[in-house]
Amino acid sequence: PARIRVQHLNEMVANGEVLTALTCYDALTARILDAAGIDILVVGDSIGNTALGFSSTIQVTLEDIERATSAVMRGTTRAFIIADMPMGTYEESPAQAIRTAIRLVRAGADAVKLEGGEAFAPTVEALTKAGINVVAHVGYRPHADAALGGPRVQGRDEEESEAIIDDAVSLEKAGAIAVVVEMVPGKLGAKITEILSVPTLGIGAGYRTSGQLLVWPDMAGMTEWQPSYAKRFGEVGAALSNAVTTFRTAVKGREFPDKEHSF
Ligand code: KIV
Ligand code: NA
Repeated sequence: PARIRVQHLNEMVANGEVLTALTCYDALTARILDAAGIDILVVGDSIGNTALGFSSTIQVTLEDIERATSAVMRGTTRAFIIADMPMGTYEESPAQAIRTAIRLVRAGADAVKLEGGEAFAPTVEALTKAGINVVAHVGYRPHADAALGGPRVQGRDEEESEAIIDDAVSLEKAGAIAVVVEMVPGKLGAKITEILSVPTLGIGAGYRTSGQLLVWPDMAGMTEWQPSYAKRFGEVGAALSNAVTTFRTAVKGREFPDKEHSF
């Protein structure tokens, strides 16, 4: 199937279809998610908390995302690929953001994503003018974890809620092709979606966003713990553990390799 483009995402939403989005960090997984028909794969800097074993996204480098993006690109034929710009690779200036974004587009990204509110509208505008698709990310923003008081629901009160709406509106005006909305009350997720004309991708933002996004190891049951908004749709960790245990037992018991698996 042909690669999904921005206009196809917009068409799906206009037709009343909910967009499906998952994070992805490697080609093996990308092949599975793409074949299952997931519309959007986000090469998120959640690669830090997941595949790379850090406790946050803050240690993730541009090289980490660049390599992962090219792997996801090679593992897919259909999914729209969004690559995260890691902390420290876009905040200084629009020029810095453009240099970073070009590397990710070269690696295979269909769009780049940055965290931040209204203050990043000029950066979004510069990237857009440079011909690069930008996805904004509002609400809970992992790069600003310390400033936001840790991973907690954003926009619970009127003032905070209005500020997040203003952020989303100004980023759309600046040219963002979509907005990720993370950890906000469902009512706010719905309101932002209603106000914007570009798709919203909700993660812990209720059921009325244009799309639903989850971190794949969370939704697949690869982790011991996952955020309360992330449903466990499978037990992939247990399945892998079972395969590994069976392999180990077979080798220790000299049952593997057998004749069939030997030359
Ligand atoms: O890094 C990440 O996984 C994200 C999610 C919101 C997709 O930014
Ligand atoms: Na991210």
